[in-house]
Amino acid sequence: MLSKKTETSKLDPAEKGHASTYSSRFFREPVPKYEIPEKSMPANAAYQLIHDELNMDSNPSLNLASFVTTWMEPEAEKLMHESLHKNFIDHDEYPQTEVIHKRCVNMLARLFNVPEDCNAIGAATIGSSEAIMLCLLAHKWNWKKHRRKEEHATPNIVFGAEVHVCWEKFARYFDVEMRIIPMEKERYTISVEEVEKAIDENTICVGAILGTTYSGQADPIEKLNDLLLKIKKEKGWDIPLHIDAASGGFVVPFTEPDFKWDFRLEQVKSINVSGHKFGLVYAGIGWMIWKEESEFPEELIFKVNYLGGWMPTFTLNFSCNSANVIAQYYNFLRLGKDGYRNIMQNCLKNAQYLAELLEKSGKFEMINRSQKLPIVAVSLKKEIKAYSVFDISNKLRERGWVMSAYTMPPNAEEVALMRVVVKENFSHDMADILYQDILNACESLEKTSQGPTEPPPKENGRHHPIC
Ligand SMILES: Cc1ncc(COP(=O)(O)O)c(C=O)c1O
Repeated sequence: MLSKKTETSKLDPAEKGHASTYSSRFFREPVPKYEIPEKSMPANAAYQLIHDELNMDSNPSLNLASFVTTWMEPEAEKLMHESLHKNFIDHDEYPQTEVIHKRCVNMLARLFNVPEDCNAIGAATIGSSEAIMLCLLAHKWNWKKHRRKEEHATPNIVFGAEVHVCWEKFARYFDVEMRIIPMEKERYTISVEEVEKAIDENTICVGAILGTTYSGQADPIEKLNDLLLKIKKEKGWDIPLHIDAASGGFVVPFTEPDFKWDFRLEQVKSINVSGHKFGLVYAGIGWMIWKEESEFPEELIFKVNYLGGWMPTFTLNFSCNSANVIAQYYNFLRLGKDGYRNIMQNCLKNAQYLAELLEKSGKFEMINRSQKLPIVAVSLKKEIKAYSVFDISNKLRERGWVMSAYTMPPNAEEVALMRVVVKENFSHDMADILYQDILNACESLEKTSQGPTEPPPKENGRHHPIC
């Protein structure tokens, strides 16, 4: 029989209650990777194991590739934490959350200048991708219901090659012919003339971007509206315009309120915006806003009996936590228009500062002088043959920076660029540090490079930059 002393010493030190988490046996054994383990483990050990493994991820503050928010105020985080356990879709159980959701929709519709006599509707979505697919689906539905002349006519949609991948997903998932307007070297938005050639009576909608993922520029939205009005008058085709304002929708209304891109234009019927980009909320929220409720197909609104009440639902997704909607409302109250304006102006100034530094270095060319967003997109000057933007991006990883490098969409693929998204937390000083790191990277590559790295293989014929 084992003595009492031996029995105790066989216990894991953590189980004896006087050892650190790290000295427990869980740190001597491989973590389960393929099957849920049979036995449980203490909460502190599970936490520490996962926490430490996640240290291998990049530091979100140095992530210059993504548009998505990486910093929020502690008060916002506190509110988010308090709402994590509420299922957002369950309006009957959490009615006040729904009231706040509706307030956000109202505020956004007004921010996008919905006319006084319109009854706007909208909804929070998981991101702009869901909002875009939903709006385009509604436009397809409207075409089928009101405009389709022949039963076998097939629908098409017209947009530029600079769209985010979710537009192509929509066309493929929902079986709509894509008519993509190609880019050209030095034209990275769609041209009205090309759009005019592409549309016909079965065009469900024309898509335009306020701040493209590639260069931050805006499509010629007002001119597209004029074109669609002319076509409506001449041919009777009432083709709507959907504006993808994923990033621009939270920048331009504050920085250039007189710039017309929104519901002030007659053919603009629906808009999406990402709350988790310049809306300044953590990942997981977008918004779709529809100008006029009566124009949203009622067949897409389901009334479901859920947990004791009848509830309308028209999003593709169902359950999700309430934290992001609450955080969006917090930002609206906390920042006000003044706060958003200050932040966006700071971002634009810091972007301009970095762009000037890069240009003065003599190594880079600006891609996007007339952009609407605080992003810096540059390509390497032709004379630089030893390395590419892909090499610079890789080299900067050594310092922790994450910067995207990609090629432009068809037909401007020969242009390779790198892009910095200047977010709220990217200060003037960080611009200086980044600039010095870019110069150091170039110097080191000049000495060691064995020739420029080519772009990685394309997917569906192009690179989709990170967003
Ligand atoms: C112009 C544009 N549209 C749509 C999206 C997709 O947005 P989300 O990530 O919110 O789904 C992005 C992402 O960056 C974007 O830049």
